[in-house]
Amino acid sequence: MSDAHFGRLFGGMLAAMALLTIVLIIIANVVGSTLDDEITSRKNDAKTKELIARIAPIGKIAFGNPAEAAQTQATPAAPAEAISGEATYNAACAACHAQGVAGAPKFADGGAWNERVAKGKDALYGNAIKGYQGKAGYMPPKGGNASLSDDQVKAAVDYMVENIN
Ligand code: HEC
Repeated sequence: MSDAHFGRLFGGMLAAMALLTIVLIIIANVVGSTLDDEITSRKNDAKTKELIARIAPIGKIAFGNPAEAAQTQATPAAPAEAISGEATYNAACAACHAQGVAGAPKFADGGAWNERVAKGKDALYGNAIKGYQGKAGYMPPKGGNASLSDDQVKAAVDYMVENIN
């Protein structure tokens, strides 16, 4: 092959490839913009918005940016499960146990508690969690607060038992 022939062939191939590249870019642009339109219209769709709201994370972690941090606090994350016996007692048990309502053994009252404590803590935990009909009255499961975890109820029992005089 002469150099001149090779040069023409090579130049022709370069031109063909350049042309092909341009054609491909045009096709990609056309397809891409149609897809963009499609995505935008789906994003604005009421159903999509509803879906995004439904699967939105409960909380966000904000690093450093005070504005974002404030926003994060405005929609608080699910409360970390506090296992404070005292808090649980005050929120869910004191209503009956503080004054000994309806036969509930009164808080800190040794006379009402000693016999019960003698059954062992596991018995008390079980009765507080599952509920208990005794001679004195009816103890509803978890004091009627089903959203408490077993551990929270146990912590409340511990708190009550620790405070018996
Ligand atoms: C609606 C009233 C009420 C609430 C609220 C309540 N209790 Fe009671 N509880 C009772 C009564 C009544 C008894 C006594 C039942 C009996 O012995 O006849 C009792 C008994 C108990 C006992 C002793 C069980 C036993 O085996 O002798 C424990 C422990 C106890 N409650 C824990 C709790 C805890 C913890 C909470 C809060 C999560 C709570 N209670 C909330 C009414 C209540």
